[in-house]
Amino acid sequence: MTRKIHIFDTTLRDGEQSPGASMNTEEKLVIARELLRLNVDVIEAGFPISSPGDFESVRRIAELAGDDAVVCALTRAIARDIDVAADALRYARRPRIHTGIGVSPSHLADKLRITEDECVERAVAAVRHAKGYVDDVQFYAEDAGRSDYAFLARVIQAVVDAGATVVNIPDTTGYSLPEEFGERIAYLMAHVRGIEDVTVSVHCHNDLGMATALALAGVRAGATQVECTINGLGERAGNTAMEEVVMGVRMHGDELDAHTDVNAREFTKASRLVSSITGMGVQANKAIVGANAFAHSSGIHQDGVLKKRDTYEIIDPADVGAGTSQIVLTARSGHAALRHRLEELGYAFEGEELDQVYEAFLNLADKKKEVYDEDLESLVNERGREEDA
Ligand code: KIV
Ligand code: ZN
Repeated sequence: MTRKIHIFDTTLRDGEQSPGASMNTEEKLVIARELLRLNVDVIEAGFPISSPGDFESVRRIAELAGDDAVVCALTRAIARDIDVAADALRYARRPRIHTGIGVSPSHLADKLRITEDECVERAVAAVRHAKGYVDDVQFYAEDAGRSDYAFLARVIQAVVDAGATVVNIPDTTGYSLPEEFGERIAYLMAHVRGIEDVTVSVHCHNDLGMATALALAGVRAGATQVECTINGLGERAGNTAMEEVVMGVRMHGDELDAHTDVNAREFTKASRLVSSITGMGVQANKAIVGANAFAHSSGIHQDGVLKKRDTYEIIDPADVGAGTSQIVLTARSGHAALRHRLEELGYAFEGEELDQVYEAFLNLADKKKEVYDEDLESLVNERGREEDA
């Protein structure tokens, strides 16, 4: 049996931090229901101290989830934040407080203006304070991706000793390269005593378009929780996309010694739901959930897919709730695709006849981006009229 990778969804917290993507409580509840259908392990429901609306969202999602998922609330390493988060989580069956502090030289010197010793003290105090409310305490080392290895290990050691159950290693600024991020996780696995008894989590941002690669490098190096969002929503260029990381793990489960329990057949529905609620469109060529993810337009590819789907598709679209592969008729399409679509419409053309219809099709396709069924019907009807005349 491969290692179980816990899927920690942060669409409702980091995803909502995406400019223009804010959601009200009712909208968050609709998404939370979909996250439960996806069978995610953890729902990060919000940052309760940030606003009364976010507090209410966390409270209601905590009630909704019951035993079906851990419900997590974010805090800074500040006692008052933690008190408010604990209050919002009071009806949760499986509550988790997610507290943390910046650990990179830039965060220590320019944002927090504290020394390394003060950082460790605050981290430990926050974990201990949170442990006064809940057993399950997750610590985040903000900007870990740009931190000093030895100092990061020192902070993580201190919070593990203070009782953190999960340690989150974020690449907050999406700065790392996958190999280096993997080495960072491996370094922690080798240098923090007792780390094998806690969950190591990775939380990556997409500033260089590598959030999924970073998360998978973390998994390869020993992480067993991945933090992600639907459609990769999130601050700036976004977070690791859940659909990408889950399908990456599914495709390469043996190499990564990993599996998830996510119900991938919900991905297309979840993606459309999040997009319609947030108003954040999904790019057509987005992996797994983009409109073109299973669409084939060139003749060479269409010929292959029509002979055997996996010549050009690594995922069966049905496995992610996307129906069937699409053959899109364009000026790049060949005879095989045209004949296939005509057959689906009830017309059988072969040999010279097919060549003639194909020529008429190409003339039309050069004038249009895509040739639709009604265009083909007109072509065939016109041809019939010419023959009758
Ligand atoms: O990117 C980040 O570091 C975060 C933390 C608050 C976990 O979102
Ligand atoms: Zn983040």
